Formats: sequence, C-alpha cells, structure tokens
Amino acid sequence: MRMLGIETSCDETSAAVVEETGDAAKPWAVRSNIVASQVAIHREWGGVVPELASRQHIRDICGVVERALEEGRATWRDLGAVAVTQGPGLVGSLLVGVSFAKAAAAAAGLPLVAVHHLAGHIESLVLQNGELPLPAIVLVVSGGHTSLYLVREPGRYELLSRTRDDAAGEAYDKVAKLLGLGYPGGPVIDRLAGTGNDRAVALPTTRLTHADRNAPELKGDLDFSFSGLKTAVLRYVRGHDGALTASEIADVAASFQRVVVTTLIDRAFDAGRRYHARSIGVAGGVSANSRLRTELRERGARREIPTFLPSLALSTDNAAMIAAAGLRRFRAGVTASMDLNADPALVL
Ligand code: KG4
Ligand code: ZN
Repeated sequence: MRMLGIETSCDETSAAVVEETGDAAKPWAVRSNIVASQVAIHREWGGVVPELASRQHIRDICGVVERALEEGRATWRDLGAVAVTQGPGLVGSLLVGVSFAKAAAAAAGLPLVAVHHLAGHIESLVLQNGELPLPAIVLVVSGGHTSLYLVREPGRYELLSRTRDDAAGEAYDKVAKLLGLGYPGGPVIDRLAGTGNDRAVALPTTRLTHADRNAPELKGDLDFSFSGLKTAVLRYVRGHDGALTASEIADVAASFQRVVVTTLIDRAFDAGRRYHARSIGVAGGVSANSRLRTELRERGARREIPTFLPSLALSTDNAAMIAAAGLRRFRAGVTASMDLNADPALVL
C-alpha cells in the first residue's frame, strides 16, 4: 500500500509518497519526499511569521503534492490513504494541510489518517532504520519541542519528560539572534561551533530535580530547561557591550553547543538506564546537529547500546515521516472522519 503524507505544521510545505515493503523489520520505503521551505521568506523577519506561513502554504501545496506524486511515480489511484499532520503547530499553517488532505481524500475516495507531528518525528527513525529494538528511548528535539518518549511497543509513545521552557531548537534560534547570526540559528551555530573553543565561555547546565507543577504525572528529574542558558549568553554578549569579535562569536557558539548537546545526550541515556532501554533514538530538526550525531554514536558505542538517527532529510520537517506514522496508525485501524480539524495544541 502507498500512503500520501502531507505536512504543513510550521514553515515547510511537504508532501511524500511512502510505501509498505512487506518486510516487518523495515516496514516502509520512501518513494518521494518533496519539501518547499519558506526559510527565505521568514529570514527577513528573524523568525516564522504565522500569517505569511499560512499564505505561502496555500500557494505551494498543490504543486508540492503534484511533484510528490510525479516523483513517486504514483497516481491518485495507486494510493491507499492520505495522512496529514493534525497538530501541534501553527493553526493557520495546519489548516492548509488538513483542508487539502480532507478534500483530496474525499475526491479520490481514500481514507484519511490524522497524525501527531511528534509521532511523525519518532517514526522517522523507523522509516530510516527499520523497527528499533524495544523498549526504546526516543528524544524528539526540534524548534517547538524537547521531549523524551518511552516506546515499549510499536506505535505507543509514553511521554517521560519535556522542556519546562524553551525547546532546544528555539534556544539555538534565540542565541543565533543574540549573536547576530540570522535565522534559522541551528545550522549557523552548528557550522560556527566547529571553529570555536567549546570551553572558552563558562555557561550553566540546568539540572531539574523538583516535580513540574504543571505536569504532575512527570517525575521531573528527566526534564529539560534551556532558558537559563540563553540568558547566560545574553549576559555574556552584554558584558562585551554587544561587540564580539568573530572568534569570540565562534567560541560562544561552540560553548553553547557543547552544553546543549551534553544535556540532551545525558538525559536520554539517563532515561535509557532507568527504563532498561534496548535502543536510543534522537529525531527532530536538532537531530541534524553534527556534534549531537557524533556524540550520540560515541556514547552509544561506549555504553554498548544501539543508537539511531534519521537521515538529514528526515530530521527536519518533512511529509515522509507523516506518511510513515500514518501507515502505522492506519494498520492499527485508526482513520479520521471528514470533520477532522487542525489542533494546534494536540497532545501525543
Ligand atoms: O523539526 P523541525 O524542522 O521543526 C519543528 O518541528 O520545530 O526543527 C527545526 C529546528 C530549528 O529550531 C532549527 O534551528 C533546528 O531545528 N536545527 C538545528 C540544526 N538544523 C536545524 N539545530 C542544531 N543544529 C542543526 N544542525
Ligand atoms: Zn518538527
């Protein structure tokens, strides 16, 4: 069966065709994965402007879907269902994908499957690597989320912890802005960090020990917090009257990246030990980070636990991961009705 996936939760318009392989160990293969990025539009404003994002999704969605079908060498008749990101995300952006998917499913007489964006990121690991050894700890780390999940059985995601304030990707974007490096910050800081001294600037690591009053079901000690780190960078920049040399900027980037990556990996492996995980995966936009990719593999090798990452193309937002998560849900017997609505605060 072939699934058309549609993703418009933030600033990428994406459509993909993913097919089942018949191999239970590696269940899905990507036939096409088209992403129209809006980065150039939002860069001018230093971040995503929701109104501009939804308007651009409307302009791009038809062409992006046509190209996904063309490259995937599929017609509407070859498809078994349509999967779409229902949330979380920007409501105006989500609505474009949800409306398009509903109309397409109705017109082509196909079932509709609603997908949680983070389920998509988690399943990007399976799309890339095949089924993970379970139980698995999966860290989803993106512009909007930093959350640890325990996966005991395929398709069931148990939230263990999350960030109390900024997401790691958001911290990258905000720190890049402070340093005058433009948007999005992740890739720029990643590149600059390679040239800096990662011990040059003393920055704090935050370790939470108390329970989260807003989420009493979570233990708390696996939670993340990145706002203090961002403030420390701000103080450092102000301490230099805002005038940093290129090599000082590279040092801040490297030091910041060291703290973020160490925190993320420490917490994922802490959770791995606590839940006797047989594998650890990291997904989401920040999983494209070069230092995080290297350190995850090194730590996994040292601890003798297999680690998994998506390819770079499957790390940042894309519809192939939504189609994959949609196939999982569809095979579990879950479809959506035609009154499906976008839900910007959808919980997994
Ligand atoms: O998953 P994603 O594409 O969108 C969301 O669902 O948020 O993640 C985007 C985030 C941005 O904050 C971006 O700065 C970050 O991922 N990012 C990176 C890298 N590439 C993208 N962060 C660190 N290093 C990178 N190489
Ligand atoms: Zn994402």
